[in-house]
Amino acid sequence: MDGRAVFFCLSERDGVGVDRGAGAARSVPVEHATDSPSGAAVRGCGGLDRRAIFLPARMACVGADRRAGAARLLRLSMRTTALPAQPLVAVAQLNKWYGAAHVLRNVSLDLATHERLVVCGPSGSGKSTLLRCLNGLESHQSGRIVIDGTELTGAASVLGIVRREVGMVFQSFNLFPHMTVLENCTLAPVWVRKTPPGEAEEFALTQLARVHMSAHARKYPSELSGGEQQRVAIARALCMAPKVMLFDEPTSALDPEMMKEVLDIIMGLADSGMSMICVTHEMGFARRAADRVVFMDRGEIVEQGTPDQMFDNPTTARLRMFLSRIVHGRIAAPT
Ligand SMILES: Nc1ncnc2c1ncn2[C@@H]1O[C@H](COP(=O)(O)OP(=O)(O)OP(=O)(O)O)[C@@H](O)[C@H]1O
Ligand SMILES: [Mg+2]
Repeated sequence: MDGRAVFFCLSERDGVGVDRGAGAARSVPVEHATDSPSGAAVRGCGGLDRRAIFLPARMACVGADRRAGAARLLRLSMRTTALPAQPLVAVAQLNKWYGAAHVLRNVSLDLATHERLVVCGPSGSGKSTLLRCLNGLESHQSGRIVIDGTELTGAASVLGIVRREVGMVFQSFNLFPHMTVLENCTLAPVWVRKTPPGEAEEFALTQLARVHMSAHARKYPSELSGGEQQRVAIARALCMAPKVMLFDEPTSALDPEMMKEVLDIIMGLADSGMSMICVTHEMGFARRAADRVVFMDRGEIVEQGTPDQMFDNPTTARLRMFLSRIVHGRIAAPT
C-alpha cells in the first residue's frame, strides 16, 4: 500500500468499500468484517490496504442508505491524511541453510504494491530459493517474511493464506498433463478458494483471454508449444487473483520466438499494475519492465537500484563481472 487512505461502508450481512486510492470511487467486496463495540474492523479487501480500519458504528449504514453512506465516507476520506506506506512483501534478515550450505544470507527486501522487481545473479546465488521461501515452498531458519501483513511462520493456516495471495510461475510450466487447460486453471480456485465451478470457469476464461489462450481452453498441455504452456501457467496463477506474482526464469526453457510472446505477456501484466518479482537473465526485459533490479551473489543481495543505475553504473566488482557476460541482451551461462 502506498500511503493511500481507504474507508469502508458496511452493510449488515456483506460489505462494500470505497477506494479513493484508485482515483475513483468504486465498490469493492469486503471479505472479512467483524463487528466490535466501537465499530467494524475490516480486513482483506482485494487490492486495498490490508490493515484493519476501524469504522465508527455511526458511519456503518445498511440497505437503501448504503450508497449515500458510501458517498459520505468518500467525502470524509478526502479530508484525512495519508496512511504510512506498508510494503506488500517485506523480507528482513532472511537466512536459509540446506544442511551445512548457507544459501540465503541476511536477505532484506521490500516490494511495494504495483512495484516490478527483477532479481538477477549467477547460478546458485539463491534466486529460486528466495522465491520459494516467499510462497512457502521452502521454510527459512531465521529472519522474517511478511506478505501483505501476514507473517510466514510455517503454520498450515498461514501457508494457505500466503499461497492464495502469491502466484508463482516456474521455468518448467508445471501444468498437470492429464487435465485440460481450463481444468488446470480452475483446479485451485475451486478446491482452495472454494469458488463455485461455473464462476471459476468464467474467471479462468477471462484470464486465458489475457494471455491469448482462450482458443486452447479444451486442449491438453501436450498439445501446446512451450510458449503456449507457459502462457497457460501464467493464466493459471492469475486465476487465484494473487496480490503478487513471482516468476522464476519464466522464459529460460523457451526458444527466442516463444520467449518473446511470454515476455510480452509479463510486460502487459506489469503495465496493468501487477506487483511482481521476476528472476530472469533477460536484461532487455529488466530494463524495460523493472522499477528496481536486485543483484544476488552467493546467497546475499550485493547491489540494488534502478535498471539504469545497475546496468550503466554498477558499483561493485561482482556486478560488473556479472554484467560483462551479457550477450545479445541476456546473461550468458559461464564458460
Ligand atoms: N533442495 C535443495 N537441497 C540442497 N541444496 C539446494 C536445494 N535447492 C537448492 N540448493 C542449493 O542452494 C543454492 C541456491 O540454489 P538456487 O536454486 O536458489 O540458485 P539460483 O540462483 O536459482 O540458481 P540458477 O540460476 O541456476 O537457477 C545452490 O547452491 C543449490 O545447489
Ligand atoms: Mg533458479
